[in-house]
Amino acid sequence: MKRLPSNRTPIEVTVDGKAIRAFLGETVAEAMLTSGINTFVRSLKYHRKRGPFCLEGSCEGCLVRINNEPNVQSCMVAVKDGMTIETQNGYPNVTHDVVSLTDRVFHKGMNHHTLMTRPKLLNDVTSAVVRKLAGLGEPPTMANVTEIASRQIETAALVIGYGRAGKKILPLLGKDAIAIEQKKIDDAPHNVITEASVIAYYEEENVFVAAAAHEVITVKADRVIIAMGCYQEAPVWPGSDLPGVFGIRAIATLLDRNVIPGQSIALPKHEPNLARKLKIQDVEVYEYDYLDVLRCEALGDGLRLITTDGSFDCDVVVAPPLWSAASGIGRQLGCQVSLSRDGYVIRVDDSGKTSVHNVVAVGSVTGYPSEFFAWDDVLPAIASSEAPRAYLPVRAPRTLMINSPKAFACRCEDVSTKDVLQTINDGYPDIEEIKRYTGFGTGPCQGKNCLTSVASQITALTGKRCPPFTCRPPLTPTSLGHFAALEDHDE
Ligand code: FES
Repeated sequence: MKRLPSNRTPIEVTVDGKAIRAFLGETVAEAMLTSGINTFVRSLKYHRKRGPFCLEGSCEGCLVRINNEPNVQSCMVAVKDGMTIETQNGYPNVTHDVVSLTDRVFHKGMNHHTLMTRPKLLNDVTSAVVRKLAGLGEPPTMANVTEIASRQIETAALVIGYGRAGKKILPLLGKDAIAIEQKKIDDAPHNVITEASVIAYYEEENVFVAAAAHEVITVKADRVIIAMGCYQEAPVWPGSDLPGVFGIRAIATLLDRNVIPGQSIALPKHEPNLARKLKIQDVEVYEYDYLDVLRCEALGDGLRLITTDGSFDCDVVVAPPLWSAASGIGRQLGCQVSLSRDGYVIRVDDSGKTSVHNVVAVGSVTGYPSEFFAWDDVLPAIASSEAPRAYLPVRAPRTLMINSPKAFACRCEDVSTKDVLQTINDGYPDIEEIKRYTGFGTGPCQGKNCLTSVASQITALTGKRCPPFTCRPPLTPTSLGHFAALEDHDE
């Protein structure tokens, strides 16, 4: 990846002890990628190379240790001069990791339920080794624990998410309304709290909890508007987890920030705007049909995308537009959801109301394809909850997965499509059973990258409705310091 010249202030940070140049205003992930670092972390089970996919806080690929704090999403943290960054889970390092031999030895997959369970001596030795290797990152030392403050807010209306839908609706809700947004927004109005994630809703106290870098905020609101949009799920081809495979919005973000993602890029068809922007920068673009993809392979520093139509060697593969509604907080609130091609969308009536009193949902979290969204007509109606609107039917669930030991339905826990299909065939077609048996949905992304794929698979194979698994807090990786600050606050 290459930065275009800019007038930003250069600084220095270290990655695994080596100094690299970064620029104020960049995220840690951006600084690492533009310094030629693609592998940030090794995966949990097979120790496969992983790198950023989404660049918006919804996957597991960019976790690093920053200033001694493990498992930080580097795409959500701005670089600071002198910052110490370490890649994670590689022995001795993420570039050359001896434990990645597991990936080769178990090329047909690994069933950890029965592997080396007998005789007892072998089981004891294996268990000891696995316990040593399990987990991600080492705890921080006390000397480096960040102080987390806490505060309370009471508001007439809380908008969760300040993307397209949130921006439209917040001004309609009066001056007492506030919005909370995960991303950094330079010109956000004073009533928008940015770089803070709503991580939980606690029913007993009727409060939302949001975590920011140095504080935890509890919010009581009379009305709630969920405008969290959707995440892009990674596709489940063999090799789609390799560093260098990025989401569409990640590539658009990099271009907006004057970073050229590569000299040659494989892009899904029907993304004319992105294709045009890349071609303006002299990037060679190969447009592929994602239904034709067979697999993706590592090739030196780049990737090879293999389709039924031929193959293409490139620096970057842009993943197809598989969206998943960010309905987690709605599910914690008890809103009814429906499984669609775009994930579990929050069901709303003609005025945007959900099944929960005083909770409204707007934008793509409701399954509205944005191209049909008649914003200016619809949003005043939602705000007043009077005029009706046409509710668009959600699209059908997705198609079947490729059965492969190295196509990962859940990247966090290295759960392959073979593991999922085997579990269904073994007579456990319930999503909670599959979660418990395979561990899918239990990693740092909390199901954002796998829930829709697995649920769609279950629906396709069984023909039955598949409610989502229970969504529990926190919705995003959260430090124990935030929970401790919450406790102090209660006292
Ligand atoms: S790249 Fe940072 S969470 Fe996905």
